[in-house]
Amino acid sequence: MNFKKRSVILCVIPCIVWLYFMANSSDSDPSRTTHVNSWIGNASKNVSLYVSETLKPHILPKGFCARESLLLVIVNIRPENFEVRDILRATWAQKRKFTVENPRIGQLYPICRFLFVLDDNITFYFLVGEVENNEIQRKLLEESEKYNDLIQERFVDSYQNLTLKSITMLKLFHLHCAKSHKYLMKIDDDVFLNVNNLLEMLENRDCDTNLLVGKLMRDTPPFRDPTSKWFVPYESYPEEKYPDYLCGPAYVMSGDVAVKLYRCALETPIFFIEDVYITGFCAKKVNVAPQKSSLFSCYQDRNYVCLHRHVYALHHYKPREIQKAHRILKEDSCPPPGSILETITALQITSRQL
Ligand SMILES: *[C@@H]1O[C@H](CO)[C@@H](O)[C@H](O)[C@H]1NC(C)=O
Ligand SMILES: *[C@@H]1O[C@H](CO)[C@@H](O)[C@H](O)[C@H]1NC(C)=O
Ligand SMILES: *[C@@H]1O[C@H](CO)[C@@H](O)[C@H](O)[C@H]1NC(C)=O
Ligand SMILES: *[C@@H]1O[C@H](CO)[C@@H](O)[C@H](O)[C@H]1NC(C)=O
Repeated sequence: MNFKKRSVILCVIPCIVWLYFMANSSDSDPSRTTHVNSWIGNASKNVSLYVSETLKPHILPKGFCARESLLLVIVNIRPENFEVRDILRATWAQKRKFTVENPRIGQLYPICRFLFVLDDNITFYFLVGEVENNEIQRKLLEESEKYNDLIQERFVDSYQNLTLKSITMLKLFHLHCAKSHKYLMKIDDDVFLNVNNLLEMLENRDCDTNLLVGKLMRDTPPFRDPTSKWFVPYESYPEEKYPDYLCGPAYVMSGDVAVKLYRCALETPIFFIEDVYITGFCAKKVNVAPQKSSLFSCYQDRNYVCLHRHVYALHHYKPREIQKAHRILKEDSCPPPGSILETITALQITSRQL
């Protein structure tokens, strides 16, 4: 194929895609242009005004956090992402049971060998905020009846309120889960989670406190371009760089850290960039250093799961890619590590994502 022609096409297509998204986002998301005013203008930044320990969430699962497990995972997801939740329930967020052999009883009565059924050491809940649309609300109630894994809290579900969503997660952990769970993970719905790898790491830790880990962001300057989604004016954050923080789509903390961060948030003016606020500002205030792990990936452009088999969390997966990655790992169908086939497949996947 003619090289010039091809590079023109390669240039034009992303431009069209970009224009399409720009046009769409300003139409369909009226808050886009006003988000600066919503927190940075005169709306109060006092977290206590938005987070209540006495008002119950609109939807709370029966027996919420009653079952003990090592890790509680809260999936931050938009209310209307019904299908994504179903995909996650069928992939990494599935409820797994293990039948284990008890050798002593097994010797005496071979028929009873696999008698013991263990629950997984991980618990998943989905966290959403309020929606205006009655039809969506009706479907959420239905979904909650069916799966009992949905929490709907008392704040408007919006991009600018993601910080509030994470603070709410910390609040729920503090109020209901601190006794039954040792660790808390925050995860977004566009992440591929490798449950076994993560559990193995947590189960092998020497102690179960003082952990805040994820993909470390260091020396990151705020966006000063007023048209950026993450635009931060000097009035709201005058420093040149953020403190160290963890990339938002997936991070893990121990229970003690979750409680400290929650208490800190109640006294820290809200800042709309969720990960900077929780794992940066608040962690720094309570003297918890976010730890770097290369096994969390964020904004990864190469997302071929076979190249990252040891990873805990891989960011930027579409629902269908999550299904595929889950299937590949389940079937153990990765090409041999370092093989030509692995390289070719990885290249194919990368070029398709352009
Ligand atoms: C915010 O301030 C502007 C002017 O500074 C004012 O017009 C507006 O009513 C205020 N909004 C609220 C919610 O107080
Ligand atoms: C935030 O609001 C709470 C509850 O209304 C109040 O007690 C507290 O003093 C406020 N904090 C600040 C810093 O204004
Ligand atoms: C965030 O949630 C609060 C509490 O529900 C609400 O008052 C506020 O309007 C929301 N902000 C945005 C930008 O959605
Ligand atoms: C869960 O993790 C704890 C702590 O590592 C361990 O003691 C326990 O045996 C695990 N439970 C299961 C069901 O794997």
